[in-house]
Amino acid sequence: MATRHTQPRRQPSRKGSMADIPKDLLQEIKRLEDLFTVDTAKLKAITSHFQDELARGLSKEGGSIPMNPTWCMGFPTGHETGTFLALDMGGTNLRVCEINLPEEKGEFDIIQSKYRMPEELKTGTADELWGYIADCLQQFIEYHHEGEKLDKLPLGFTFSYPATQDYIDHGVLQRWTKGFDIDGVEGKDVVPPFEAALEERGVPIKLTALINDTTGTLIASAYTDSEMRIGCIFGTGCNAAYMEHCGDIPKLEHMKLDPNQEIAINCEWGAFDNEHKILPRTQYDIIIDKDSPRPGQQSFEKMVAGLYLGELFRLVLLDLHEVAHVKIFEGQDVSSLKKPYSLDASFLSDIENDPFENLSETHDRFEKALGIKCTKPELELIRRLAELIGTRSARLSACGVAAICLKKNYKTCHVGADGSVFNKYPHFKARGAQALKEILDWDKGRDGKALGKGHDPVEILPAEDGSGVGAALIAALTLKRVQEGKVMGIRDPEGMLKGTKAADPKSKEVAPESKK
Ligand code: GLC
Repeated sequence: MATRHTQPRRQPSRKGSMADIPKDLLQEIKRLEDLFTVDTAKLKAITSHFQDELARGLSKEGGSIPMNPTWCMGFPTGHETGTFLALDMGGTNLRVCEINLPEEKGEFDIIQSKYRMPEELKTGTADELWGYIADCLQQFIEYHHEGEKLDKLPLGFTFSYPATQDYIDHGVLQRWTKGFDIDGVEGKDVVPPFEAALEERGVPIKLTALINDTTGTLIASAYTDSEMRIGCIFGTGCNAAYMEHCGDIPKLEHMKLDPNQEIAINCEWGAFDNEHKILPRTQYDIIIDKDSPRPGQQSFEKMVAGLYLGELFRLVLLDLHEVAHVKIFEGQDVSSLKKPYSLDASFLSDIENDPFENLSETHDRFEKALGIKCTKPELELIRRLAELIGTRSARLSACGVAAICLKKNYKTCHVGADGSVFNKYPHFKARGAQALKEILDWDKGRDGKALGKGHDPVEILPAEDGSGVGAALIAALTLKRVQEGKVMGIRDPEGMLKGTKAADPKSKEVAPESKK
């Protein structure tokens, strides 16, 4: 494997200068700044509306944010044990893990394999999808357990799309998001066809929990950090989960659950403001929505998530080339720039990471990827545009986090975050922290010291592996509930244990006697 940082990391020390930029281009930069900048007052207004919408999603009438109850009831203690499979159907890869939760508090061992998710699968048929996934699981088991006689392995399946769950082992896909468009899945329970594909192949696996990546992130992070209250994904998509008291969920009132019992809510906040009341949408956001497979859906997500950042950037540049009076890239062949979704968020990351005053890396990147030779003033505009799009994403994302904190009255807490944008996009963390400070009016740290890393009242921190460890933990918590007879929100408690190690009444796998 190639080592990536053989030299000391370069400091992004670029100061930049707009001195030599022609006036019309400067004016254009100013117009883009006005379009993409979200000031403190607007952040606060968005957060306040966000809070109302979180509540509306929990109400009987419902709203545009689904606020899906997940039947993941409460946090782990850190003492969960057992061996579990976890399957993560992300966007680009399919990941299968085997996780062992040992007796030691908060520990885990993991082995994993990744399988490429063929692009055609995302717009193919349901049978192809489930068949492909079952094949990968079969391969994993054959590879890691060759020739062994296995008990059925309990599986946590991270299915990161909005699903209505009457039970934890059930999930009706509300709608595809993140560019997926597979026929015959929306509006149906995804568990039976998935299990049928396993059955057909004789794969010894029992689905224990269908989970969202945000819920997995919340639970995995809480396993090692007791201050964790929210799990977020800032990646291809954007979303969060948190724990709500059953008594504060009017739409579950009819179930007469213990009002003090906690249940994780998968917000599906990507759908925030689908009715376009508050978000500062630009003409470019409107095009992204219109040309997507699901227009009118995921309004918030389309402004902040990784899948769309490169596309936004491309649309602005194309507009400045074709329509705006500034005519950037004049006389050049822009056919590559005309290809939808040809630039991803890493292209923007690279531009923001270019440390050179003359933006030579950006220049080369444009030439290589798009066959466009940029002038110095064009490079300055490009850099500013990347900053504007990246900054807007971080600041708007912070509104969702702030809204949950305000709703739950969390004055201090940790937020576990995962996803390519959070982990790789330059300055995303610092920009998000700055926005939280503005929205929540902090003037000093939680400990009375100056604000900053380790001191901010609410901190967004890199999460533990939610779709691996988180999925395993939720499977463990679910099996433990079955063993204890607490079967609310579990469709098939008996079937869940049948043929697994946890079926044995003497089993220490899930609920060790000493820790009950
Ligand atoms: C999309 C999905 C959601 C997921 C998020 C992050 O918003 O609808 O379920 O959590 O992407 O992957």
